[in-house]
Amino acid sequence: MRTTIFDIAKEANVSIATVSKVINNTGRISEKTRKKVLEVIEKHNYTPNLLATALTSKYSYTLGLMMPNLANPFFGEIAKSVEDRARELGFSVIMCSTEYDAEKEAWYFTLLQKKRVDGVIIISGVENEDAILGQKARAGMPIALVARDIPTLPINTVCVDDFLGGYMAARHLLQLGHRNMGMILENIRAARERLRGFRKALEEEGLTLEDRYVAEGEATIENGKLFAHRLLDKKPSPTAIFATNDILAIGVIRAANERNLKVPDDLSVVGFDNTILATITDPPLTTIAQPMSLMGSTIVDLLVQEIKGEETNKQRIILVPELVLRGSTKEPRQVAQQEGSLAQPSFSGG
Ligand code: RIB
Repeated sequence: MRTTIFDIAKEANVSIATVSKVINNTGRISEKTRKKVLEVIEKHNYTPNLLATALTSKYSYTLGLMMPNLANPFFGEIAKSVEDRARELGFSVIMCSTEYDAEKEAWYFTLLQKKRVDGVIIISGVENEDAILGQKARAGMPIALVARDIPTLPINTVCVDDFLGGYMAARHLLQLGHRNMGMILENIRAARERLRGFRKALEEEGLTLEDRYVAEGEATIENGKLFAHRLLDKKPSPTAIFATNDILAIGVIRAANERNLKVPDDLSVVGFDNTILATITDPPLTTIAQPMSLMGSTIVDLLVQEIKGEETNKQRIILVPELVLRGSTKEPRQVAQQEGSLAQPSFSGG
């Protein structure tokens, strides 16, 4: 028969709570008692039933991570960092893919609650979900937000400055001499912030990004391609396109290939995220990097501090994105010809 926590407590002549404290390394226990309990645990090769432990302990040492779409490596990189940091802190992570579906998201919330997770990290896939998340947070479930900012929600949040990211993309293209640009964005709030930043930089130069040079939809390679064809059909045709993530940017490069346009000679392309995808496109993609690993580990730290009651003040941490120059951007042909040079900009990043 399987050894239980009761058997260990009985043989070590201590209470179940004491065994639980030794297992979870919490509370104050004398070295002598700890040693005795560990000896009995080892003798019986006892592995605690985590569900039973959750019932007797304050914590289940489990976190939930809800992500909208596992096909985007951006989420994989955040998930890896969340899992690594959680493990360092003694927590395991249950990952859920919500597929941008509000019903699925609600279903996972309930499931995670039933599994007695101590808190949930969410990368929201649903628009206008302030109310739903607010309700959950008020119901006492520690919730933290990563890679998304919902300014009306008083919960721990880690994301990048999306406005600044869009602004940086535009400034880079302006510096190269582009004046006629297009933009493709994912239909999420963060991407609209990137659009605002992009427009602001153009406006500072007395330029306007007309709505007809902006396309918005789900972030798929197919959409990136479709929208890029639409923008490239406009007169005058844009010499540069900024896409609000690397996946959409790949679609733009594909569209350029289909039209026999050379990237970057005929069309400059800027992505966002700096996922592994940005290094394997041809040419490699100039992109606005989000510090995915830092974002993942920081949100775990904030959530665990909240769970353990070590920090009651919630934090909104807005990280600064970074422009990573690769081969998909250069000055537009006219400028290059005027300058009599077709030199590439200097590269940084991998
Ligand atoms: O929804 C996916 C996107 O959200 C990522 O590509 C990244 O840009 C994040 O903000």
